[in-house]
Amino acid sequence: MKLHLVKSHSTIENHISDNVKTLPPSGIREFFDIVYNTPDCISLGVGEPDFVTPWRISDSGIYAIKDGNTHYTSNKGLLELRQAIAEHIKKNHGVEYNPQTQVLVTIGVSEGLDIALRSIINPGDEVIYFEPCYVSYSATIKLAYGKPVAIATHFDNGFAIDIEALQKAITSKTKAIMLNYPSNPTGASIDKKTLEAIAALAIAHNLIVISDEIYDAITYEGEHVSIISIPEMQEQTIYLNGFSKAYAMTGWRLGYACGPESIIAAMNKIHQYTALCAPSIAQYAALEAIRKGQRDVASMRAQYLKRRNFITNRLNEMGLPCLPPKGAFYVFPDISSTGLSSRDFALQLLKACKVAVVPGSAFGSCYDTHIRCSYATSMEQLKEAMDRMEQFVKEL
Ligand SMILES: Cc1ncc(COP(=O)(O)O)c(C=O)c1O
Repeated sequence: MKLHLVKSHSTIENHISDNVKTLPPSGIREFFDIVYNTPDCISLGVGEPDFVTPWRISDSGIYAIKDGNTHYTSNKGLLELRQAIAEHIKKNHGVEYNPQTQVLVTIGVSEGLDIALRSIINPGDEVIYFEPCYVSYSATIKLAYGKPVAIATHFDNGFAIDIEALQKAITSKTKAIMLNYPSNPTGASIDKKTLEAIAALAIAHNLIVISDEIYDAITYEGEHVSIISIPEMQEQTIYLNGFSKAYAMTGWRLGYACGPESIIAAMNKIHQYTALCAPSIAQYAALEAIRKGQRDVASMRAQYLKRRNFITNRLNEMGLPCLPPKGAFYVFPDISSTGLSSRDFALQLLKACKVAVVPGSAFGSCYDTHIRCSYATSMEQLKEAMDRMEQFVKEL
């Protein structure tokens, strides 16, 4: 039989889903395309450690290859690694997870976020999160067919969470509250009292908390307190963490999710069909990291602290007020005294001085009076970048 085919006039672009078409491109990526084309640029833009992965960790990855550990692992990840993760959490937060049923090894916190949202959201469910925030939050909620509900936090009170605003934002459609502490991009954390107030609301309204604690090990003052350590919250929380930031392992792509058995099983359902398992080689490296890498973490944290003190002093001195971050490796100074929008500031600074920062507008619509500077770069580079920025601000 001869088929009579007529060429369709619809373009290939028409095949892209409406959900994806309406997603805006990441404000960071768009900006960094310009940075990559600017030679000799000092970048305070990237959100990743300048340190290479500590050797003991990399060696474990290399040995995994040499030993032929290059196969799929269990969907949930190597049991030994899940056990080590559960022990690590027990030691830090006094909370017990069953490694067989309540721990899932993921492809970075990125995959953890995606499958956490997809496993709990029905179309139209609302997810509350706090701005300024990591650029993926709104997009991952939308990709899961949820409705992002942003609550602004403000420089004047240290980007603290306003519990009254949270209470007002909760509706009958609210499914979850997303938290990130210490925060990308402000470096602010959430104190125990505020976590308790959030927990009380989550319990009263039967909401899931998705707690992204990827920067917990980079906490400078006091101990990082997790919401899972608050009574009854372990049952209500999807706890996300990973190896990218603390152990300087961004390229290994490894994270983990812990939570109630039923939710971890639901997340694993998506994970087994879409990812199968996290990379085996990275899992062996992560096992070494979590068991023996704590001294390396402490040494990197000490260096971030020196840089944090230096950069906050310099920015404040040049008239760009910023709060000393409690954790992570970002500062989020207020640039309103310059009269420039965050995008103009970043573009002009890049052109005139070859220093790259990220416009605050990438982290939420209310933050056009801020820029994000990452201090995950050498002290030498930081000094040079601050000298250039000071000159730039003086000449405006
Ligand atoms: C707050 C936050 N969550 C998650 C991620 C993603 O991390 P991963 O490399 O583990 O996917 C990042 C990366 O910058 C981040 O800043």
